[in-house]
Amino acid sequence: MENTIAIVLAAGKGTRMKSEKSKQVHKILGKEIVLRAVENAKKAGIEDIIAVVGYKKEQVQAVLKDSVKYAYQDEMLGTGHAVMQAKEYLKGKTGKVVVLNGDVPILRPETIEKLIEKSNSNKEYATLLSAIYDNPYGYGRIIRDDGGNVEAIVEEKDADELQKEIKEINAGIYCFDIQELLKALDEINNDNASGEYYITDVIKIMNDKGLKTGAMIVEDNTEILGVNDKVQLEILTKILRLRINAEHMKNGVVIEDTSTTYIYDDVEIGTDTVIHPNTTIKSNTKIGSNCEIGPNAYIRENCELANNVKIGNCVEIKKTKIGEGSKVPHFIYLGDCEVGEHCNIGCGTITCNYDGFNKSRTEIGNNVFVGSNTNFVAPVKIGDNAFIGAGSTITEDVPEYALAIARQRQINKENWNKKD
Ligand code: UD1
Ligand code: MG
Repeated sequence: MENTIAIVLAAGKGTRMKSEKSKQVHKILGKEIVLRAVENAKKAGIEDIIAVVGYKKEQVQAVLKDSVKYAYQDEMLGTGHAVMQAKEYLKGKTGKVVVLNGDVPILRPETIEKLIEKSNSNKEYATLLSAIYDNPYGYGRIIRDDGGNVEAIVEEKDADELQKEIKEINAGIYCFDIQELLKALDEINNDNASGEYYITDVIKIMNDKGLKTGAMIVEDNTEILGVNDKVQLEILTKILRLRINAEHMKNGVVIEDTSTTYIYDDVEIGTDTVIHPNTTIKSNTKIGSNCEIGPNAYIRENCELANNVKIGNCVEIKKTKIGEGSKVPHFIYLGDCEVGEHCNIGCGTITCNYDGFNKSRTEIGNNVFVGSNTNFVAPVKIGDNAFIGAGSTITEDVPEYALAIARQRQINKENWNKKD
């Protein structure tokens, strides 16, 4: 999206979150809401992004790092005032700027793209995203003239009884012509019920000048929900989770119980893989076809599973690669590990991958049979076709085809428990 800039408003206090942390850094499926807003703009093809930060800005900046430019709002005087802080970045530029509320994290990137397209094809100077809500309480209402053209936005606090009846609400996502926005920003004031500078006033200012403005009604109402308290945080987590699960199911994955399946962003799963209940799969993981995962499986970041892999009950794996046809069936922890093809990892096996300072790797070849309750004290390598005796604590490499037994021999003390 050449020439398009995005401004993400992330300076607000978020009082209703009742938190020591900035609202913006609360997470939905492992990712901060403000980072989601920025990534949505990036996925819509916008590279030039300015975040307006203020309250607890160091927390927000620690998340966004140098993925955006920053504008600083020292006093929170409203959304219009927040946009004004980014003026320096807009001066002398032409084209469109998209303004996004930083607390609206599950907006689809395609919706941003559509908004820009509509704005361009209709030659509008301001295009906003709206939605129809049965209960519009709290939102800005869209005022249309008799011909259906958008005239203004009136905030809940400023609305009269008739305006409060309006069910079309402002989502807080806008596409503006940069030069006309700059001019309008000079004209907004804080003469309203909140005593704040509203970005929403720009619509009326442009209309009064005869500049064309419009609204695009979002198809999926849930996209534009904002996070204002922790109840909404949970609601949005659920909506996003079900959306991600549905995408996997449409791609051919079987999810037995979507209400207990947590799949984060950036996970690839092959067709006919079955996900059993109570399974969590974190980001940057790739799972092949015909695998069986769970129940109660915990697949953490950066795992790679080939086809026909079984990850069973109460198994946790992290930064682990598992080869075709291997089975990791129950009560197992594998971290920083590579398992070859057609291995069987016995119940209760763990990798001891952390010595308190460093993480070390466990490498297991192909066709290895690991007996139950094995400890792999990493770093350690197991050759192809090796066998590990149950209960072993493996501290040294095992050559291919070898049987390794690393436990004390059993002693039977005859008649030890006889009384006489
Ligand atoms: C805003 C809109 C309202 C819309 C709603 C949608 C205005 C005046 N109203 O209201 O029409 O229906 O969003 O969710 O814009 N922020 C700053 N600095 C400030 C104030 C806010 O950066 O001084 C940021 C907040 O961090 C937040 C975003 O702007 O990310 C929106 O602010 P918020 O106070 O939540 O606006 P709403 O009252 O929800
Ligand atoms: Mg809000």
